[in-house]
Amino acid sequence: MNRPPTLVEYGIAIDPDSMVTPHDTAGFELEADHPGLGDAGYIARRKFLFDITRTARLAKEPPPLIEYTDEETRIWREVTPKLDELHAKHASEIYLKAKRELAIGEREIPQLRTLSERLTRETAMHLAPAEGALPYRTFYESIAGRGFPVTQFLRHGSHPEFTPEPDMIHDCLGHVPPLMNRDYAELLTLIGKAAATTPNGEHVLMLKRFSWFSIEFGLIQERGEVKVFGAGILSSFGEIPHSLFSPSATRRPFVTDNVIRQDYDPSHMQVDFFIAPSFAFLRSELQGLVKRLGIAVS
Ligand SMILES: [Fe+2]
Repeated sequence: MNRPPTLVEYGIAIDPDSMVTPHDTAGFELEADHPGLGDAGYIARRKFLFDITRTARLAKEPPPLIEYTDEETRIWREVTPKLDELHAKHASEIYLKAKRELAIGEREIPQLRTLSERLTRETAMHLAPAEGALPYRTFYESIAGRGFPVTQFLRHGSHPEFTPEPDMIHDCLGHVPPLMNRDYAELLTLIGKAAATTPNGEHVLMLKRFSWFSIEFGLIQERGEVKVFGAGILSSFGEIPHSLFSPSATRRPFVTDNVIRQDYDPSHMQVDFFIAPSFAFLRSELQGLVKRLGIAVS
């Protein structure tokens, strides 16, 4: 009998179809342990931003211009200088150069629309407004069309160094700068095209892991040193030193066949990291993988 493969994600067996069937959450909701629960002002602000960014995304419009509140600016000014200090020491040179070119500063929250226009001139990428974390398929379809989904809300002010969900600090300081690099932009677009094209859930899982261990939690070798370029690391005070120095984490060379078989747990500090020699290497590895899987991308 020809049985579909059993897939394991986050340590749990999953239905392969769940990787390719889109679902959508049309309503705004904070998760159970969110620090903003019970704060009516925060919830009202989040609902407002959810509605306008979702509407803009569905209409394929650029990120709306946002008038940020004093509290949002306070959070930005508290968090970004501390992250900048860690980035100066540990982030990839490609990332640092891109952040300077984009003029993402510590005082004012940037308008994503302005950053998007700059990216378009540089690598033909753009930023697509997102109301929150999007379903895989929706996310991949957006990056296949060279639009990286970005949120426009900030974490709750009671815990400025923590967010249980990707917020604008994660997206803007983690994901946006590397989009200025051509190899990175092509790598990302190809992940999107391949994942949005294949009807095979196992392929999507492999591509998701490739993306997780590079785009989100990737390390890179630069002039004899290991540096950080993954957005999940760059936007977390704890993950930056942990990824590079913790004895409880492993750091192995990025070998595609190992990466696509490596499960992970997104709810905890990461234990497995892979070091890529360059973005060009990742791009060519991904091209090889997509070819090997027989995914016909245009
Ligand atoms: Fe992310």
